[in-house]
Amino acid sequence: MNQVFNKDILQGKIAFVTGGGTGITGGVAKAFAEHGAKLAITSRKEENLAAMKAEVESFGGECFTVAADVRDFEAVENAIAATREHYGKIDIVVNGAAGNFLCAANELSPNGFGTVVDIDTKGTFNVCRASFEALKESKGQILNISATLHYLATPMQIHVSAAKAGVDAITRNLSVEWGRHGIRVNGIAPGPIEDTEGMKRLLMPELKEKLTRKIPLQRFGKIADIENAALFLTSDAASYVNGVTLVVDGGQWLLGTSLA
Ligand code: HXC
Repeated sequence: MNQVFNKDILQGKIAFVTGGGTGITGGVAKAFAEHGAKLAITSRKEENLAAMKAEVESFGGECFTVAADVRDFEAVENAIAATREHYGKIDIVVNGAAGNFLCAANELSPNGFGTVVDIDTKGTFNVCRASFEALKESKGQILNISATLHYLATPMQIHVSAAKAGVDAITRNLSVEWGRHGIRVNGIAPGPIEDTEGMKRLLMPELKEKLTRKIPLQRFGKIADIENAALFLTSDAASYVNGVTLVVDGGQWLLGTSLA
């Protein structure tokens, strides 16, 4: 249980979270529920949704689930409509659905590249676009989960780097275009966070200690570190923060220590 913030900072808010069944975004969804928000979570996998719903309900939270692939705009529109029908509004949208695997650029197929761009970048656009009317009505906000991979260059990650650079562009553009509607759009760029699917896929266990020594804060991040950043950005404490992607990486990218 996250204890940094008051328990009611998101009281009465409805949060629609993609990829909210597992990992970093699952942690963010749970933290929102622990701080008063009611959740709508979406993922391709029904089993991930059911497990998260059970967990959130076990501590008294509310969790509506709807399966959808963020690459499918019609499915996304239906998920947003179902959420509005269920709760009457949407205040916060979190784009956490993401795809990842390690692959050298010269071995990556165009479809492999396109698949990750479709999930991360087009999926983020689809969800933002489909939730615009709801967010305009609630004067709500969007939080995009990005990465730091593209700040320098990360071998074996050309697809994710390109996709997340696109996500950052979406964050900036929408913050400018939709700010006048009272919608804030921000992002979080997590660095190396332990116990996540991304790290399991990207980092060989024997490299963890070596990499830890190269992180300025001398430790891997925890999912709770991202939860706290997400709570701050979506709370009234950040009501004048717009168009920012907050890096939460212990200073890792500044040293240019590649994860791959
Ligand atoms: C090379 C691969 C591949 C691999 C898939 N492809 N896996 N190429 N190496 N390991 C290629 C396939 O060959 C195919 O191209 C194309 O990608 C589509 O593959 P499918 O399996 O048909 O696609 P799909 O089932 O839609 O999903 C693929 C997937 C997905 C993206 C790999 O399974 C997925 O998202 N898994 C990971 C989820 C995850 O880890 N989420 C956390 C992300 S963490 P061809 O040409 O053969 O048709 C994150 C943070 C990054 O993003 C920052 C960390 C620091």
